[in-house]
Amino acid sequence: MRVLLTSRLHGEALGRLAGHEVDVYAGPNPMPGAELARRIAGADGLICFPFDRIGRDVIDAGSGLRAISTYSVGYDHIDVSYARGRGIAVGHTPDVLTAATADLALALILDVTRRVSEGDRMVRGGRWTQMIGARDYVGAGLQGRTLGVLGMGRIGRAVASRAAAFGMKVIYHSRRPVDGIPGHCTLGELASRSDIVSVHAPLSPATEGIVGEGFIRMMRRGAYLVNTSRGALVDEEALAAALRDGRLAGAGLDVLRKEPAGAGHLLASLGNVVATPHIGSATEEARLAMAHMAVENVLGGMEGRGAAHPV
Ligand code: DGY
Repeated sequence: MRVLLTSRLHGEALGRLAGHEVDVYAGPNPMPGAELARRIAGADGLICFPFDRIGRDVIDAGSGLRAISTYSVGYDHIDVSYARGRGIAVGHTPDVLTAATADLALALILDVTRRVSEGDRMVRGGRWTQMIGARDYVGAGLQGRTLGVLGMGRIGRAVASRAAAFGMKVIYHSRRPVDGIPGHCTLGELASRSDIVSVHAPLSPATEGIVGEGFIRMMRRGAYLVNTSRGALVDEEALAAALRDGRLAGAGLDVLRKEPAGAGHLLASLGNVVATPHIGSATEEARLAMAHMAVENVLGGMEGRGAAHPV
């Protein structure tokens, strides 16, 4: 059988596809749509990435497709119900990236509240010309502050346990309370009671724009927003306005609505924003485990067992 990869993956994992024909796109990401449509024709399995758009047109172009795996936990970029309707197994890579993504959320929380990157830019830029006085360059300590987790799934829970170790109180909003985890609240309460809101909900029609103008207006003065989920959950114009006029103290963003951001992004250019290039799962351990899971998914789907880690 033939497996198409829209980007390179670890050789150790690809070795498990021995006996199959493996077509790896090695150009810059993402693979252009026309090329994807051409190369998917005749493929039995597809391993794609969150930056690919796997809509009906692509799925139809892959008339022989039996399995799709995304190299990510999020699958908002795939028309899953259409693929399923065509009898295609669809898999993803949950769990193995939970710790990595939660670590990055904490890194962004610490960075933006203690102004680490801002200080780094100052020192590197040769602008540290006076010693810092008692009231200068202060940030927010985490101990005793309230972290509001938006989306209490696997990653939300891992962030909550890390935050507890820093002495934070955790509240959360998700569709329903999670058994054994106190602190469930409404979306409005999350906005108005949190010192830091950390976003961990998947992107769906129900969550797109959930951190909108209204939510941001309800946030505490001097609060922070951290997003390691998907950029489309946040109204970036409203966030930029709140950061510019000082209603919010800062934001830590691993994801943006438009990726890659390129030059002059309205949020990335603000001094109280720390931005990283969508690297939540980017640890050696997580990325290798994800590669194995993606391969297991397409093998399972192509061999008629279904995706090993179905969405
Ligand atoms: C995921 O797995 O969904 C992460 O965002 C990496 O893309």
